[in-house]
Amino acid sequence: MEFPSPTMRVWTLFLFLLLLKSDVVQSASDSLIGLGSYDITGPAADVNMMGYANTEQIASGVHFRLRARAFIVAQPKGNRVVFVNLDACMASQLVVIKVIERLKARYGDLYTEKNVAISGIHTHAGPGGYLQYVVYIVTSLGFVRQSFDVIVDGIEKTIVQAHENLRPGSIFVNKGELLDAGVNRSPSAYLNNPAAERSKFKYDVDKEMTLLKFVDDEWGPLGSFNWFATHGTSMSRTNSLISGDNKGAAARFMEDWFERKGSVRMDSVGFENDGIPRRISNIIPSLHDNHHELLELAASFQSPPGKPATKTSSVARRVRGVLTQVDKPRFVSAFCQTNCGDVSPNVLGAFCIDTELPCDFNHSTCGGKNELCYGRGPGYPDEFESTRIIGERQFKKAVELFNGASEQIKGKVDFRHAFIDFSQLEVNPSKVGASEVVKTCPAAMGFAFAAGTTDGPGAFDFKQGDDQGNPFWMLVRNLLKTPGKEQVDCHHPKPILLDTGEMKLPYDWAPSILPIQILRVGQLVILSVPGEFTTMAGRRLRDAVKTVLSGSKGFGSNIHVVIAGLTNTYSQYVTTYEEYQVQRYEGASTLYGPHTLSAYIQEFTKLARALISGQPVEPGPQPPDLLDKQISLLTPVVMDATPIGVKFGDCSSDVPKNSNFKRGDMVSVTFWSACPRNDLMTEGTFSLVEFLQGKDTWVPAYDDDDFCLRFKWSRPFKLSSHSKATIEWRIPQDVTPGVYRIKHFGAAKGLLGSIHHFTGSSSAFVVA
Ligand SMILES: *[C@@H]1O[C@H](CO)[C@@H](O)[C@H](O)[C@H]1NC(C)=O
Repeated sequence: MEFPSPTMRVWTLFLFLLLLKSDVVQSASDSLIGLGSYDITGPAADVNMMGYANTEQIASGVHFRLRARAFIVAQPKGNRVVFVNLDACMASQLVVIKVIERLKARYGDLYTEKNVAISGIHTHAGPGGYLQYVVYIVTSLGFVRQSFDVIVDGIEKTIVQAHENLRPGSIFVNKGELLDAGVNRSPSAYLNNPAAERSKFKYDVDKEMTLLKFVDDEWGPLGSFNWFATHGTSMSRTNSLISGDNKGAAARFMEDWFERKGSVRMDSVGFENDGIPRRISNIIPSLHDNHHELLELAASFQSPPGKPATKTSSVARRVRGVLTQVDKPRFVSAFCQTNCGDVSPNVLGAFCIDTELPCDFNHSTCGGKNELCYGRGPGYPDEFESTRIIGERQFKKAVELFNGASEQIKGKVDFRHAFIDFSQLEVNPSKVGASEVVKTCPAAMGFAFAAGTTDGPGAFDFKQGDDQGNPFWMLVRNLLKTPGKEQVDCHHPKPILLDTGEMKLPYDWAPSILPIQILRVGQLVILSVPGEFTTMAGRRLRDAVKTVLSGSKGFGSNIHVVIAGLTNTYSQYVTTYEEYQVQRYEGASTLYGPHTLSAYIQEFTKLARALISGQPVEPGPQPPDLLDKQISLLTPVVMDATPIGVKFGDCSSDVPKNSNFKRGDMVSVTFWSACPRNDLMTEGTFSLVEFLQGKDTWVPAYDDDDFCLRFKWSRPFKLSSHSKATIEWRIPQDVTPGVYRIKHFGAAKGLLGSIHHFTGSSSAFVVA
């Protein structure tokens, strides 16, 4: 027996290296993943909120801040896709156009409208005025530049962050049912769908949550994005505090949960009493000082000297930054919207506020009137509590799916995108069981649209017209169009209230060119739709796309299809043909006529086929950029002032001297303040609870982002230069006992327009 020859030894070594290499190829990720997140809160005063179209719902404070969250998945030398989830009511065509312009200036052709999806969570508690079509900015007195800019900037920064965070990693997908976070608010329309079709489903809304988990090869879990259908209407049409509603809340809870998990050694992941994770109790060691000592300590901070302005924008970062490892990107968790068209988070049902009885089943009325019928959330009558509960239910389900995610995403990253003119699209008769070609129609809204829904009755009440106090509405109401016979027939049985598709003055009232898009990340396929699909409409679309993709080369049979609702632009609702016949709110708001859904299915099917065959698709006509035509009638801040003898930031109502609070109490402090529009405090905070560590070090404990803290701003009358900010702190059950104080950060506008920042502080108080 001989030893291997030198040649053999070289071969053995070569084979060994080859094996090693193939091993490496197998275990390493073939994708780069990057996540990002940025504040998009916007103006917390004077601006109408987007969603309910209630002229009286004007922002005047912050429940919690809004964010844009993004993921990028890139294959080295291959395709990449970007998904951005906005804590906003919906995407805006104009926002997308401007974001893409900026991305092109920065990265060339890396990110275009084709591979970037921008989606809204559908909160009805964010500042409006950032959309370009007239009908969506009537109640906000036209375009609001500040709302628009903060969203465009925030998306850009989020994507840049995600881009710079790109590193090798893996993605997992998991799905599960969440039963108690949504009910059908138009069941009588749903029941008009064929019985045979309905019998295939256990529920009249989709209960499934689909979650993507992102794991960095080196750092471990980076974040998650999930899709689940329920409206962002836990906060009501009379709320005036900026809020991400139930999905924004869920995202806040999950990000805090993860950071807390990372900061504490825990054997198992548990939830506290109410399931909401807390942070402060983990970062600040418990005090052992006795109560008397605490009181003395607090007394030494009774009348804080007026301090000069400090840097405010880093405060919120500091609160959450304490918990974050500096070398690692922050955990990002997004709760995205899907086919929520007929899904209400007000799960207790809709009741008449006069009789307490359920509303009329077919019409959601009370004694024939829609104004009295309101849906009730699980925290009824407390909408903040309803928001928390529906947020928490989604958060808990997402944590469960996150912890259990084991199916790895494998396969290509790809995308297809097309602009389609929906005002006159021919739909193949075989698609709708018709004998001849049918068409979509120029956009129009039906009468039931004015009735609103049980989540917001009487929304956009054009008929009775609350136009007295709205100059923008007066400006445009004379331009109303009477629809012609062809248009009336096309929309039948929808009686046309507003012929928006044919109203072009002072500029387009409704979109006619809509973007549709498919993003593929391995076996997960995201369908970007520019509106609110109802439950059954969403099922039909997903099913049609899945049928095309299933079994094709490169896909196989295991395919997850999710709809990303309210994405890339906004065109209201999409019902099935049968639901359309019933003409409830969703049917009346299906803009392009009874065959709108069939048109979507036809066009998405084309994108799906192109995805399989590797063929490009026709880009279609560009939607208009109407930025230069926008009209803004919202008056700017003239100036801020304080009465003689007080300064900005002084307490007008302090905590009582020597106060002594306990868990569950509410501490309320009012400051002389200025209009929050002077500085949006982006990535910062208006309100802050500080904790005294040792004898003289104040550390931030709770800020605008915390559920226990509310920032409420008000003026005594409309054009007053005086204003006050009230900060309410509901002391959490798990608070660390000790000495606290409440601070307010603001910015005042001088007579000549200069902005100066100020800070105010309450006296110190003890929480025992
Ligand atoms: C709702 O309308 C349908 C169809 O007109 C009718 O059959 C049904 O009885 C109505 N239901 C109620 C509860 O009024």
